[in-house]
Amino acid sequence: MSDWSFVRVERDDDVATVVIDRQEKLNALNPQVIEELGQAFESLREEEDVRGIILTGAGEKAFVAGADIGVLSEMTPTSGVEVSRQGQEVLRAIERFPKPVVAQVGGYALGGGCELALACHLRVASEKARFGLPEVGLGIIPGYGGTLRLARLVGLGRALELTLTGEMVGAERAYEMGLVNQVAPADELSDRTRELMGKITRNAPVALRLALESVYHGLDTGAEDALGHESALFGLLASTEDMKEGMSAFLEKRKPSFQGR
Ligand code: COA
Repeated sequence: MSDWSFVRVERDDDVATVVIDRQEKLNALNPQVIEELGQAFESLREEEDVRGIILTGAGEKAFVAGADIGVLSEMTPTSGVEVSRQGQEVLRAIERFPKPVVAQVGGYALGGGCELALACHLRVASEKARFGLPEVGLGIIPGYGGTLRLARLVGLGRALELTLTGEMVGAERAYEMGLVNQVAPADELSDRTRELMGKITRNAPVALRLALESVYHGLDTGAEDALGHESALFGLLASTEDMKEGMSAFLEKRKPSFQGR
């Protein structure tokens, strides 16, 4: 499907799995990995058959153990801004992706890896997963949007605890915090992630897309604007075949078959 070095896309029916595979460095994100990740998502944007995306890291040890510290160690003030902006841009594209994205976290999700998981719409963790933002111990701060997204997801107090201590938390604590949606035994992680994705992708694709659009637009704007936008999207759905199908199926007591139109 592509000639990327560190990223591959696997297909299972209507779900694509994007795998970051740089196992010898625990899938750490260097500029090439980030670029390939962005390209992989772009390649899936217009693929009508793909209704949801699972993002994961290869191997059992890590989801992604952070941005590449070798690269970061050589950064200058200007290249540092660039490194941060490149990561932010790709993670923002994932966050605003028009199809549901679920992070499947089997091991370490540290620094930029934790930030990457935060940019996904939902997160499923194995019992062995470890989350953390160790940046302050390296003399930097999270630079891929983590200072914003973690506080939004788990609240200010918990976000500051992780950000300022730099300590890792296990999957159970991450679940209690609201950082992950589900915790699964390690050997069931991919099945449980797929199961969750199935519960999402059985729904109307255009409705899923506009639900994401409304939620994320609402986070970035005032209430009046957000409510107006929600109403406009709500009304727009009346023009879709999916709405007619969903409601007809309910009334006819059958399962809907959505075409994403
Ligand atoms: N950047 C670059 N290389 C990394 C990396 C990162 N973020 N995380 C791990 N690696 C590399 C290690 O340097 C090592 O490479 P080497 O074999 O060439 O020496 C390899 O991945 C395996 O990691 P190692 O540290 O030997 O594994 P471990 O099981 O002892 O420890 C971690 C695992 C995750 C605790 C440890 O690798 C770690 O602390 N990584 C950095 C996490 C971090 O600070 N991330 C935020 C960056 S902003």
